[in-house]
Amino acid sequence: MSDDTAPTKILNIFSLADTEKIGRQIGRLLVPGDVLLLTGDLGAGKTTLTQSIARGLDVPEEYYVTSPSFALMHEYPGRCPLYHFDCYRLSGEDDIEGAGLSEYLATTSGVCVVEWASRLGSLTPDNALTIQIILLPAERRRMVFQSDGASWMQRLEPVIVQFDLNKSG
Ligand SMILES: Nc1ncnc2c1ncn2[C@@H]1O[C@H](COP(=O)(O)OP(=O)(O)OP(=O)(O)O)[C@@H](O)[C@H]1O
Ligand SMILES: [Mg+2]
Repeated sequence: MSDDTAPTKILNIFSLADTEKIGRQIGRLLVPGDVLLLTGDLGAGKTTLTQSIARGLDVPEEYYVTSPSFALMHEYPGRCPLYHFDCYRLSGEDDIEGAGLSEYLATTSGVCVVEWASRLGSLTPDNALTIQIILLPAERRRMVFQSDGASWMQRLEPVIVQFDLNKSG
């Protein structure tokens, strides 16, 4: 996971439509090998964001993206495969290794989106993008984007500028 010194971008989310919009835009940016680490409390919106990311990655509408908490991983076809993980029920690195997650995190054939990514501990891949969703009063949210890899911030910049423009316009 990125540390406190990693470059950060912040988005204020006022509605479900905002989450859906930013999710689609992030999905459009994705290329094989990308890893998104989603953190945030129960009900923060990690699965909801993943649903829109999937749409932006051209996962067809007939695939309903659901939490893979029991299966650990769901795979969806898109521009490239989407591997959607939920680590909520994993308690440590042995569990994660046992579940074969490390191989997926190193894959260059598809995109990984990981809910409850703080469970990854030292298995957290470098150059991933962390998206922390913070629940605020009145159903608002704040998304905090962070990565040690500078390229993520460059890729996100136009999306975030566009998002803010659309909101005020
Ligand atoms: N702006 C918003 N962004 C995301 N979800 C929202 C928003 N406003 C309302 N919601 C609702 O909040 C709920 C978020 O649930 P979701 O399953 O996505 O959370 P989660 O972080 O994946 O939870 P869990 O930790 O259980 O996996 C959904 O019912 C969704 O409709
Ligand atoms: Mg979820």
